[in-house]
Amino acid sequence: MGIANETARLDAAVAALEPLGLATCELAIVLGSGLKDFGAKLDARRSVAFAEVPHWPAPKVEGHGGELVVGEVGGKRIACLTGRVHLYEGWSPTEAVRAVRTLRRAGIERFLLTNAAGGLQESMQAGDLMAIEDHLNLTGSSPLLGPHEPALGPRFPDQSQVWDAELRGRLFRVDGKLKCGVYAGLLGPSYETPAEVRMLASLGAGAVGMSTVHEAIALNAMGAHLAGISLISNLAAGMSAGPLDHREVIEAGEQAARRMEALVRGLCANLP
Ligand code: HPA
Repeated sequence: MGIANETARLDAAVAALEPLGLATCELAIVLGSGLKDFGAKLDARRSVAFAEVPHWPAPKVEGHGGELVVGEVGGKRIACLTGRVHLYEGWSPTEAVRAVRTLRRAGIERFLLTNAAGGLQESMQAGDLMAIEDHLNLTGSSPLLGPHEPALGPRFPDQSQVWDAELRGRLFRVDGKLKCGVYAGLLGPSYETPAEVRMLASLGAGAVGMSTVHEAIALNAMGAHLAGISLISNLAAGMSAGPLDHREVIEAGEQAARRMEALVRGLCANLP
């Protein structure tokens, strides 16, 4: 990997996406498991498959889409990534954040990162939505590894306010029933053991999943404003009876999608 290689890849992707007018989008949304259908609901939309964007990795996992959709919600222009790639599929952290870094480099300042996650708070139930107030990167890796590329942020970025309190406040004004907590990002692809779930809860995590933290690290370093929502698709292992099933994760996503949609529409209507 030579100096500034990743910056050059991002610039090639930004150039290819020029006709979509990303710079005028007021928000970019990453749609997690079961939420990707929101992309089809944008007005005046134009889309491009991840596979058609130079250097973008294309998702493979069941239940995840793979398009960049640009369009309008309530008159506001937004960009949606209908799915993402994960480290457990074998992608590197740099590859996993390439799409969001491209959108940031194209000029988008605000991001809403969504995911499906296991709930760790006693009061949670499947179908709850949790606003992310902070995260634990427990993947043992980072998208900032390697030679420093100034276009991607400082060598040692501050992380004292990764998740924007002001944007989060807007989410709470739209949906007063939101839970709030810390998202723990693990490598996966196995779900956690009950002992790991107890450990995560004792560390103060409110939800656990296999995505999002690297995107947050990369976007924070590039000076973006971030909000995050975890759709609690299940209680984490050992907190309810029975084993965890990927279908359960997808089904809870479908059920909570309407609430999530209302939240996103409300956020778009209430952007600063
Ligand atoms: N653990 C990790 N990732 C997840 C879970 C979980 O319980 N549910 C959905 N994604």
